[in-house]
Amino acid sequence: AIAVLDFGSQYAQLIVRRIREIGVYAELFPWDADPAEVLALRPKGFVLSGGPASVYEPGAPSLPPYVLESGRPVLGICYGMQLLAHALGGRVAPAPAREYGRAEVEILEPEDPLWHGLPSPMTVWMSHGDRVEVLPPGFRAMARSPNAPFAAIGDPARRLYGVQFHPEVAHTPLGRELLRRFAVALCGGRPTWTPRAIAEEQIARIRERVGGERVLCAVSGGVDSTVTAVLVHRAVGAQLQCLFVDTGLLRKGEGEEVVAALRALGLPVAAVNAAEAFLEALRGVTDPEEKRVRIGHTFIAVFAEHARRLGPFRFLAQGTLYPDVIESRAPERRAAARIKTHHNVGGLPPDLSFELIEPLRYLFKDEVRALGAHLGIPEALLRRQPFPGPGLAVRCVGEVTWERLERLRAADAIVQEELARSGWAERAAQAFAVLLPVRSVGVMGDARTYEEVVVVRAVATEDFMTANWVPLPHELLDRIATRIVNEVPGVNRVLYDITNKPPATIEWE
Ligand code: XMP
Repeated sequence: AIAVLDFGSQYAQLIVRRIREIGVYAELFPWDADPAEVLALRPKGFVLSGGPASVYEPGAPSLPPYVLESGRPVLGICYGMQLLAHALGGRVAPAPAREYGRAEVEILEPEDPLWHGLPSPMTVWMSHGDRVEVLPPGFRAMARSPNAPFAAIGDPARRLYGVQFHPEVAHTPLGRELLRRFAVALCGGRPTWTPRAIAEEQIARIRERVGGERVLCAVSGGVDSTVTAVLVHRAVGAQLQCLFVDTGLLRKGEGEEVVAALRALGLPVAAVNAAEAFLEALRGVTDPEEKRVRIGHTFIAVFAEHARRLGPFRFLAQGTLYPDVIESRAPERRAAARIKTHHNVGGLPPDLSFELIEPLRYLFKDEVRALGAHLGIPEALLRRQPFPGPGLAVRCVGEVTWERLERLRAADAIVQEELARSGWAERAAQAFAVLLPVRSVGVMGDARTYEEVVVVRAVATEDFMTANWVPLPHELLDRIATRIVNEVPGVNRVLYDITNKPPATIEWE
């Protein structure tokens, strides 16, 4: 395995993903992680990430001694390279000009194992303010750019390398090849990180941990809970019980479809219709955060009631993913402003204390999809749009009533149908309808109407942190709008949301 140390780079997770794409297991640790924890991985090499600091600033993150003491190969990226140079007796200083964007580097050591077979010049992505001015003893320049005489440096005898550019980003097209040379040729990493290996290992672990006990798993039809449930089911069969809560806030036909699809996978699913409880909790509520809080509490109450009814269970299986684990460990990110309260299972009453099984806690979303495909989960389930826990409540702006929910469901079904039919569904990460509590005047068959407004939203995004609205063709928008006003009673106007995130969010509440 390769240990990646995070010095505060926004790309740290990407480094891990790129190395894993090569098939070599990599894990991310905060730079100041407990050394024993990092060394327990028995890393074959270390990658030091970039970061926003300057190595010569007091209090800047420093290179933990165990990295060099290990004698293993090291690749420092950007700040990581400066840190290596600084720690080994070189000199780092502010560059005459900040270098940001595409650059061409000339490779000076084409026979070196890190560079072997890579073209020169090579296109790379630079983003730095400091640079190495004086090389540490034993190091030489391995690549240079017009702006950076030391665009890459190395001491091949000690297998210590640094690159000033970012091999992990897509703007460095051959960056993965460079990382492959580091992880495989230099570190001796083996490409054993495959969906089959992950599945076998997780199933064996779950089986060993669970023994003869029972496991509860809340399923939503989403990728994460589905893959989690299938893994546990492969491991312990009928000792697993899945629980599906229909909040009444789902899309048209969604509850039945999800339960049928999960049962078709052989999963034992108990389905609960709790629409009344959720509607009751939401009565008269229009504030978005208040809606989320009430839905969260209701979900826990319903979940607890049925967990007791179906139980007892020693274990609760959850589809926690690696980015959540990383986020919860990074102190500087914990303070990030809370934009919306996200609700999943959490905060259960004390008499319901479970031991957690989280078989996906080291996986990224794309790895979960690949694992799901290996486990035989149909594409349709793996490619489902993400759907927020609070469901249509956060797309039904204003008070949530059954009548307004039905209106929204009907409009949303038209959006889904038309996008699927036109092939645009694949180009949008999420596409949906939103119902506004705003009425406008219209005319239909010579009569005046005074009805609500539906907004259509379709966004493309990689990571849901930023998103762009999708330029749907006008004819498609026209068809959607015409169908909605003709087929959905209570709606006489349709708008298209052309706002990116930021500054808007994907959902309206
Ligand atoms: P926003 O609206 O914050 O949404 O841009 C980003 C992504 O998160 C989804 N979302 C949620 N998912 N529980 C969830 O599990 C929630 O409370 C929640 N709120 C938003 C949203 O659909 C989008 O994919």
